[in-house]
Amino acid sequence: MFETLKSLAAQVNDRRIEDLFSDADRAEQFSTRFDGMLFDYSKTQIDADIRAALLDLAKEVPERRDAMFAGSAINETEGRAVLHTALRNLSGTPIEVDGKDVMPEVLHTLSRMEELAQELRGSDITDVVNIGIGGSDLGPAMAVRALAPYHDGPKCHFVSNVDGADLTDTLKVCDPKHTLFIVASKTFTTIETMTNARSARDWLVAHGVAQAGRFVALSSNLAGAAEFGIPEDRVFGFEDWVGGRYSVWGPIGLSLMIAIGPENFRAFLSGAAEMDAHFQQAPLAQNMPVMLALVGLWHHQVQGHPTRAVLPYDNRMARLPAYFQQLEMESNGKSVTMEGADVVETVGPVVWGEPGTNGQHAFYQLIHQGRDIVPCEFMLAAQGHEPDLSHHHALLVANCLAQSEALMRGRTLEEARAKLADKFDGDELERQASHRVFPGNRPSTTLIYPKLTPEMLGRIIALYEHRVFVEGVILGINSFDQWGVELGKELTTALGPMVNGEVDAAGKDGSTRQLLGFVHGAQA
Ligand code: F6P
Repeated sequence: MFETLKSLAAQVNDRRIEDLFSDADRAEQFSTRFDGMLFDYSKTQIDADIRAALLDLAKEVPERRDAMFAGSAINETEGRAVLHTALRNLSGTPIEVDGKDVMPEVLHTLSRMEELAQELRGSDITDVVNIGIGGSDLGPAMAVRALAPYHDGPKCHFVSNVDGADLTDTLKVCDPKHTLFIVASKTFTTIETMTNARSARDWLVAHGVAQAGRFVALSSNLAGAAEFGIPEDRVFGFEDWVGGRYSVWGPIGLSLMIAIGPENFRAFLSGAAEMDAHFQQAPLAQNMPVMLALVGLWHHQVQGHPTRAVLPYDNRMARLPAYFQQLEMESNGKSVTMEGADVVETVGPVVWGEPGTNGQHAFYQLIHQGRDIVPCEFMLAAQGHEPDLSHHHALLVANCLAQSEALMRGRTLEEARAKLADKFDGDELERQASHRVFPGNRPSTTLIYPKLTPEMLGRIIALYEHRVFVEGVILGINSFDQWGVELGKELTTALGPMVNGEVDAAGKDGSTRQLLGFVHGAQA
């Protein structure tokens, strides 16, 4: 599928990216804009021929995209529609699944969430603890942190790990008389979440606080929530066409709505809806999610760079790389096509990252001088939220721009020598200079936007969601299932009684038996 592109890559791999800027229009030509946002991919090897070949791959995207927005069952391995976009369709335009318009229910649930978020503002609840994991944690946890300047509700905490340390450390700062728990689980069976929810209930009981009114459930499993003892009016349901990692827009986003208020939450949804409209309407070459996907495919599938770094220059976006990790790696980390055949190409890249500037003082060494090339995706707001500290923001901007420039330009041996000539000479000059060479020619993209508002965050997340979708369509895989998480879950269930010493581990491999033996020995 990528043959043409691979032969184009072979022709350009030795060329210097910075030389491409001899074309005075390059920056503009190799960028897409959408209503105040700019995605600049000009610091890559992509030229007009390469872009044309990449766009050729995307021919099937519009049909598949329209099928997704229309509610067709494009999640074929689970026989489900993929309609997280309906959760942000504030206009209420009908969207049908199996002949039924889903919008009245979506909007009704949204207004029930708003009532609760408002009710909490005037109540004695000071702390809200969201108990969930994966998509039932990462989205709201990331967004609550990202939108800190908009907080005006109770303090939100997030407990995800089954490690008792997570719940313990969180509850230490909460007062049982003033704490509300949100049990966020699409299935309401996830072992980590259910274990944490039960322990939270025990904590209330231990402090003499009645459970009534202290639990809210966000789930597709209404029976499971009822069985846990959560009354119907405190349960916010959603349908199976909302995938876990795409669920922040609906009930799973309740903690975010509580933190920033219903109006800001609606702005967050509107931002995503604006990106949806752009994705549906913009021609492919000017379509931001499409171009973001194609740049990713160019770097991973064509050029063979195994990982991708997401580097938001925004301290409040600290959880964004983890959120994108699930979005990309759980969606596209597959080896089988929709039809069940082996995928010939490599599929999902490893996604990782940290906010800048912190990463610069940690792992950028490898990005600049290591052997593996890591395409970097910088993200930056032109304006911060701290007008009194605008000099900090100026430095943040300078750092971000400096990094993409440094990655592209590098530093030659001659330049390194010249910098050191007044300190060293002879062999020592050669030795010292060799350590200060930067190969450069390392690709990066920059997504820049005016300010990180709720609306902008909504747009950014929707942009990345659609990027993952486009990649999946081109690779012919199903981005909406996650069978790869199941085996570990099954083995955990079997191992539990062995860890507790109730069942003999004789059937296990030698390593697992040794590790269990160590645990039992240490616990004795
Ligand atoms: O195990 C993976 C997964 O199913 C994710 O896809 C999901 O986001 C997470 O677990 C949590 O699932 P649930 O919301 O059903 O508890």
